[in-house]
Amino acid sequence: MKKVRKAVFPVAGLGTRFLPATKAIPKEMLPVVDKPIVHYAFEEALAAGIEQFIFVTGRNKNAIEDHFDHAYELQHKLSGKEKIKELALTRDWLPSAGSVSFTRQQDSLGLGHAVWCARHLVGDEPFAVILPDDMVLADQPCVKQMVEAYKGGNMAAVMDVPRDKTKSYGILDIAHSDGKMVTAKGLVEKPEPEKAPSTLSIIGRYILEPGIFSVLENQKKGNGGEIQLTDAMSSMIGKVPFYGYRFDGKRYDCGSREGYLEANIAFALDRDDMKKDVHKILKQFVG
Ligand code: G1P
Repeated sequence: MKKVRKAVFPVAGLGTRFLPATKAIPKEMLPVVDKPIVHYAFEEALAAGIEQFIFVTGRNKNAIEDHFDHAYELQHKLSGKEKIKELALTRDWLPSAGSVSFTRQQDSLGLGHAVWCARHLVGDEPFAVILPDDMVLADQPCVKQMVEAYKGGNMAAVMDVPRDKTKSYGILDIAHSDGKMVTAKGLVEKPEPEKAPSTLSIIGRYILEPGIFSVLENQKKGNGGEIQLTDAMSSMIGKVPFYGYRFDGKRYDCGSREGYLEANIAFALDRDDMKKDVHKILKQFVG
């Protein structure tokens, strides 16, 4: 089986839930503590052995490209002032030359369409998809866990959600559950709670086989009038297995204001240099 070397990051969304913050900057550039959301996604992919980082962007997303490049004026000023630590924060983590690509999704036609936009950059090999909005705090990065467990087919990270939340997720119609791996006989995008075949939900981490591109090419619009990745993976079942992977870790939904706030607290508490102070601050609020 081919190694998972490439990751696709769909980052074309408008971020309307975060207006006015996202009027002039992409939502993926909002910081969690002191790093943009998209930076965590990049680090997670890197830790999983990914070598090629493919961003599917849209208009007004140039700040993401700039983030993964040098900032010469800033770096020049910092080195003049001998601010070595700060200088390192601007450049020591930069991806190697040629390992980052950007392509544009010109119209907001859905997640399935965004992934399809990366087809020429991915080529004929299995690849990861990371939705940066979904942040996962874990001892072992979530994508790394998945790459290690991957045995072909299409795979997504899954977790149970309360039944009244199924309308926000792709949901598995479970065939068989074996420890962390769950096979599905079907997938439904954002079903009403009473229609959901289970409460096992897809979160924004996938490993897909390249056959998904020809399915996406002809994929009809689904939920919300958009081309859904969930529908494409579902229609492949029978020919290509679908595995849900119950990952270790906790997921934070940075696509919502509350989830974003929660992620900021959780990631700050996870840092040795901040833990104590953040505890103190939180105590002031809870008494
Ligand atoms: C997307 C997918 C959905 C998945 C979710 C995870 O939805 O379409 O299947 O459960 O991500 O966050 P979105 O949240 O982009 O509407």
